Amino acid sequence: MARARKQQAAKKARAARGEERLAALSAEKRSFKPPAEFRRQANCRDPKVYRRAARHPEKFWAGWARQLEWSKPSRKVLEWKAPDARWFVGGKLNASVNCLDRHVRTARRNKAALIWEGEPGDRRTYTYWDLYREVNRFANVLKRLHVRKGDRVAIYLPMIPEAAIAMLACARIGAIHSVVFGGFSAEALRDRINDAQAKVLITADGGYRRGAVLPLKQWADEALQRAPSIEKVVIVKRGGQDFPVHIKEGRDHWWHRLMQDAPAWCEPAAMDSEDILYTLYTSGTTGKPKGVVHTTAGYLVGVLATTRWVFDLKDEDVFWCTADIGWVTGHSYSVYGPLACGATTLMYEGAPDWPARDRFWELCERHGVTVFYTAPTAIRAFMKWGAEHIRRHDLSRLRLIGTVGEPINPEVWVWYHRTVGGGRCPVVDTWWQTETGHILITPLPGLTALRPGSATLPFPGISAEVVDGFGEPVKKGGGYLVLTRPWPGMLRGIWGDPARYRKQYWARFPGIYFTGDGAKRGPDGYFWLLGRVDDVLNVGGHRIGTAEVESALVHHPAVAEAAVVGVPHELKGEAIAAFVTLKDGARPYGHLGEDLKEHVVKRIGAIARPERVILAADLPKTRSGKIMRRLLRDVATGRALGDVSTLADPSVLEALKARYAEDPSA
Ligand code: PRX
Repeated sequence: MARARKQQAAKKARAARGEERLAALSAEKRSFKPPAEFRRQANCRDPKVYRRAARHPEKFWAGWARQLEWSKPSRKVLEWKAPDARWFVGGKLNASVNCLDRHVRTARRNKAALIWEGEPGDRRTYTYWDLYREVNRFANVLKRLHVRKGDRVAIYLPMIPEAAIAMLACARIGAIHSVVFGGFSAEALRDRINDAQAKVLITADGGYRRGAVLPLKQWADEALQRAPSIEKVVIVKRGGQDFPVHIKEGRDHWWHRLMQDAPAWCEPAAMDSEDILYTLYTSGTTGKPKGVVHTTAGYLVGVLATTRWVFDLKDEDVFWCTADIGWVTGHSYSVYGPLACGATTLMYEGAPDWPARDRFWELCERHGVTVFYTAPTAIRAFMKWGAEHIRRHDLSRLRLIGTVGEPINPEVWVWYHRTVGGGRCPVVDTWWQTETGHILITPLPGLTALRPGSATLPFPGISAEVVDGFGEPVKKGGGYLVLTRPWPGMLRGIWGDPARYRKQYWARFPGIYFTGDGAKRGPDGYFWLLGRVDDVLNVGGHRIGTAEVESALVHHPAVAEAAVVGVPHELKGEAIAAFVTLKDGARPYGHLGEDLKEHVVKRIGAIARPERVILAADLPKTRSGKIMRRLLRDVATGRALGDVSTLADPSVLEALKARYAEDPSA
């Protein structure tokens, strides 16, 4: 009886999945016009903006810049000598003033700026006035710790309000914040601190994740054993009794103690438009992460414009961008963008499936979220967990939903639109990068006809192209995605490495920014992103360089060589498969594969854990000794092998294929 019911249910589920797929197939070709009701109220509903901005991009951006508060207006919109851009030349302003002071002088003073919920369910709401006072006080704390304009401050925190407060306090006094994702390991933190030569570290006793405690201070202590630039550590008490910490006298200070007598006013530093606001480390094609540099005015203009038009934010909205503050999405769309707009931003500390798989929807319902922004990898998980978790909650306040971080397949897009958005919310699939600072390719929800799987068109004022290897525009088929004009929020360099900046982004097509992404254009000019074309993986929306994982593996005493490739993964989009050879004399043992995975976690963080580690006798190489990753990818995905004519020893591949098939659990 039970078996028959089970079979019946499975049949029904299969049929439903089939329907979804069919719907998706036709949806890919279909277009979803903005609902009339949405169009009527949209912040941007004039289709002529595209033409106007294309004709006079500088005028377009200058219009946005006028919405900010300046202590000295700029005298020129742009100075451009590829690859060096200076936006809003000669202007002076302060990011924290634009996110806070400007609003506390208006009726927004008592409006919720930041609503926060911790994983255990504790809650805090900061009005603009509250946040303003906290930021001022912490800015004074930083000053007392001898932090000066231009000094680097590392922030290694869970998703708690203090993360946003610390960022804005740095901005207030002109210190450069460098946020390190709380899921990164001690070693990854240390490398980033050392590269930035940070003077102060702000961390917490711990953070909650799936009911467990992340011992951040303990990891920080490990990192600080070899990070001599750090003079002071500020510790937020998140867990109290649960998280015992070691305090190093003279170096370590509790946040709440320092805040006790800190005055609630701190004169904001008048920052030059081109003064650095922050650096943020991201993965590239070498083993060493790069500190992407963002400056003040252009970045603020870019996040302000895109938050207003892409997310259509109004004073009544509650905006939830689910990204961690450790990534650029958290910087631009949990903190600077919404606060520059005077909006209400929601922040949540924990996992989407804790204590149950409806946590996100419970949060949306409880806080009345109206605009929701997440990553395809999360949407795929929601889809797998089933619509019942969503249907249990009243999501009728949602009016716009978005995605970022990786290509979204049409089937998932359609599910998101229908199940989360109730069929009535436009979906904004937004393409951008840590380097671009803000969204560049995206629908405008009141204007653009949506096509599932396409990020549609460049934001007004942005010039993107798909080109072939010679830099010529591609009319049909795929090519390289490039940006042919500067934009306000573009990175201004890589911290301490100007040569790498030029080589990485500007050398392939001189004078043109190379994104590292493949793309194709539809007949309507729409952009379809095809993923990275370099040795960068996108695992669950997180960028990880193959070289980083390889150097972590080679660091293990038993490993001689390692080659890492990306393989398709049902939930994460892409997962890591690592092929490893051992040193002479090193003996493989039963759980060596697991040990190697752990080793990568220790060196980088859990996001870089390989899905599979394959121990091989040899790796496929060209006659000149270069590892042929392309063939490893074929082995790992079970595809027919590509051209093997340059391979030095074809027998290596046969052995690898056999090894891969033999141990699927590795
Ligand atoms: O490959 C593109 C992918 O994510 C890369 C940027 O990663 P990161 O700097 O970590 O920033 C992620 C959040 C902005 C891009 O080079 N990517 C980002 N958004 C999309 C995307 N791929 C397809 N569609 C998107 N909407």
